[in-house]
Amino acid sequence: MNAATQDLIYLVAAVLFIVGLKGLTHPRTAVRGNLFGALGMLLAAVTTLFVAGLSFVYIIVGVVIGAMIGVVLAVKIQMTAMPQLVALFNGFGGGASVLVAGAYLYLRLSRGETLTHADSIATAASGLIGAVTLSGSLVAFGKLQELNFVRDIRFPGQQVANLLLTLICLALGGLLVFYPDHANLIYWIMAFLGLALGILLVISIGGADMPVVIALLNSYSGLAAAATGFVLSNNVLIVSGSLVGASGLILTRIMCVAMNRSLGAVLFGTLAPSGSSASADEVYTNVKSTSADEAAMLLEVSSRVVIIPGYGMAVAQAQHAVRDLTNLLTKRGIEVEFGIHPVAGRMPGHMNVLLAEADIPYERLKEMDQINTTLETADVAIVLGANDVVNPVARTDPNSPIAGMPIIDVDKARTVIVIKRSLSPGFAKIPNPLFAADNALMLFGDGRQAIVDITKALQEG
Ligand code: TAP
Repeated sequence: MNAATQDLIYLVAAVLFIVGLKGLTHPRTAVRGNLFGALGMLLAAVTTLFVAGLSFVYIIVGVVIGAMIGVVLAVKIQMTAMPQLVALFNGFGGGASVLVAGAYLYLRLSRGETLTHADSIATAASGLIGAVTLSGSLVAFGKLQELNFVRDIRFPGQQVANLLLTLICLALGGLLVFYPDHANLIYWIMAFLGLALGILLVISIGGADMPVVIALLNSYSGLAAAATGFVLSNNVLIVSGSLVGASGLILTRIMCVAMNRSLGAVLFGTLAPSGSSASADEVYTNVKSTSADEAAMLLEVSSRVVIIPGYGMAVAQAQHAVRDLTNLLTKRGIEVEFGIHPVAGRMPGHMNVLLAEADIPYERLKEMDQINTTLETADVAIVLGANDVVNPVARTDPNSPIAGMPIIDVDKARTVIVIKRSLSPGFAKIPNPLFAADNALMLFGDGRQAIVDITKALQEG
């Protein structure tokens, strides 16, 4: 295959990536978008392997082992563990960039080739960004998995340590460019320190701020891949890495706006540390519980109901039961809408994906800003397994770890029914005064079962 044909196929693959990304911007076109992207990647990978003229034995063995691991993961992984899996995928992308750039550096130097400055810069960028992505993503995985030993570790002078380590890594990257004689050694020391930097940058980030970090690590994995594309002079890797890097940065910005955080604070690991907050005993003095029958009676006499789903809906897999309840209420002339917080759940778009899976019409899903302007006119707001995203402490307590984060103002609805199993906190690990508000009723139980019970009570009532 000549270079022109190869570039033409790469161009087709790049167009497929872009069309695929466009498709992913809307639930209705997302599946098709995903297919376009996958087709583009297949074209790119097959062409690259074909042109490289490698021994296909190793490649086939690698593909078979990789596919087997992929199939087992895809079949076994719970939907609630998807965010952790995505964090791992980001990390593996970063790790692959470190290994490929390191191996190619070794190969070229052992062949006695001279590296241009552009080659060295790309190698250093690939190694450093890849290493930060790998270790940062592993820490993010641990936090999402709620492993205790990776919970918000902080020490005095952490930000100074982060800054120093960043400068040392950048200096090593510079050495690699200007002193190619010891490039292999410098590269691996830099990659090793990059791993430490990734851990330090992510380990201190408190509960509710994780969405920003995950989006950023996603972007880093793309940037590392793009740098590796320059190392290998592979145009399609440069294009696909840049697309991931750019879309990840756009997502990071969206998450920053959603959380009311600045990108600078995220980049330098100086996000607000978890401050102290009132104890659960102080907050939960006046909690009123309710039953499915009582909730059904309240819904029966409503004209407008807003449902606010959160991570608990994903755990309970309650989306299909929610669809049935929505259909029943709608049939009775009650208007039902959903208030979607951008960081509800554990990954961007988590709630949209679940509700789309249950065929809930997209028009019913309202973004936070949109629903907040109309919550005062809601007769009932049902909070289904959401906690941090409806916690009024974000508005009232500047010391709270979620201070300043915009929330869905459910407390403005006439009555709030909160469905969850207990009074235990959400991801940010802080009590929620909403549960003790005058207009709030707690319906304790599993999210799916509670919705099924309400629907049954409505049908029988
Ligand atoms: P959370 O604040 O995490 O609260 C979820 C609630 O669901 C818990 O309080 C839990 O209470 C309840 N729950 C769990 N299983 C349930 C079940 N089977 N039935 C009913 N309820 C159940 O959720 P949220 O409001 O969606 O907020 C998301 C949080 O995660 C934010 O802090 C966000 O920053 C963080 N985060 C988000 C992302 C992204 S990108 N979306 C990524 C990482 C972290 P019980 O145990 O009492 O039932």
